[in-house]
Amino acid sequence: MKRMVSGVQPTGTLHLGGYLGAFRQWAAVQHQADAYFFVADLHALTVDGDPERLRRATLEVATQLMAIGLDPAACTLFVQSQVPEHTQLAWLLECTATTGELGRMTQFKDKSGGQESVKVGLFTYPVLMAADVLLYDADLVPVGDDQRQHLELTRDLAGRFNHRYGDTFRVPEAYVPPVAARVMDLQHPERKMSKSGASPQGTIELLDEPKVIERKVARAVTDAETEVRYDRAAKPGVSNLLELLGAATGRPPADLSPSYSRYGDLKKDVAAAVVEMLRPVRERHAELSADPSQVWTALQAGSEAARTVASMTLDRASSAIGLVGGTTGTGSRSVDSTFA
Ligand code: AMP
Ligand code: TRP
Repeated sequence: MKRMVSGVQPTGTLHLGGYLGAFRQWAAVQHQADAYFFVADLHALTVDGDPERLRRATLEVATQLMAIGLDPAACTLFVQSQVPEHTQLAWLLECTATTGELGRMTQFKDKSGGQESVKVGLFTYPVLMAADVLLYDADLVPVGDDQRQHLELTRDLAGRFNHRYGDTFRVPEAYVPPVAARVMDLQHPERKMSKSGASPQGTIELLDEPKVIERKVARAVTDAETEVRYDRAAKPGVSNLLELLGAATGRPPADLSPSYSRYGDLKKDVAAAVVEMLRPVRERHAELSADPSQVWTALQAGSEAARTVASMTLDRASSAIGLVGGTTGTGSRSVDSTFA
């Protein structure tokens, strides 16, 4: 069985872009892979935030992931900060990475651009992400295409570490889902739908009421023509609607356009399909929210299971890089050989 690892930041509630680009696949692959999924609360510290809000958002995102269908019996679901090995391995990898390669990360350039003072954590964030992945000997990392560059860095760091210190890490591959890898904002179809996007009307939240979804889709930006045609470059708004319908119904977007002669009909069908797709998520979320302790219990068990794997990898890396005794004591073998 392939090992899979992926994480999500708890900076807000989940939206349709993340659902189609990532979380729906997570729920599907958990039965075919040895899957590790976590809420990346340490990554959320790279931007200013309120402590109580972070705690709530962390539990809320975990609840939403379980509502989507992540089943603690089928995958290992945990909170990043509950597994201290992530930050420990990140240090070893920070001493492997260079400022040059981190400075080339486009997400860093986007997020730090125009800021007077930039957190060191925002700069080193991709290294923590590499640790997240390498700790679990991942074969595959399901991500949206905005994370490809971070995955490339992860592969580079793993390869460099292995080359310098001997075979330690499995070199992972990104898995970018082919359909709806990029869901665009309904109001600004040239921008991807995002939780930090300044366009609440352009973003469909996972728990939006059906009425709200209908309104947002009805008001989606299209163009001055009337022809329903799949053409990402010339008709970004209409193409995004076709992609949403395609993702919700499992059909290629280009096959759907001949059935429509008016934007209004397309929008009605998109809204109905999205509402139906999200209905079971909303229902399960209501059940889980009524008993939050079952979410926390599942997360604690998940963190415990994750640590068992993470601590072995950290020990291997620590011994390889020359830390006396590794980290768990099994590294004492290298102490014996040092004194021999
Ligand atoms: P984020 O919500 O930005 O933390 O992203 C969580 C996951 O969803 C990551 O794998 C992202 O790449 C993916 N994702 C976020 N926004 C979108 C989008 N608009 N379309 C497709 N995938 C997305
Ligand atoms: N950086 C990812 C994002 O913003 C979240 C993330 C953190 C992640 N650690 C990861 C994704 C490890 C995959 C693997 O979407």
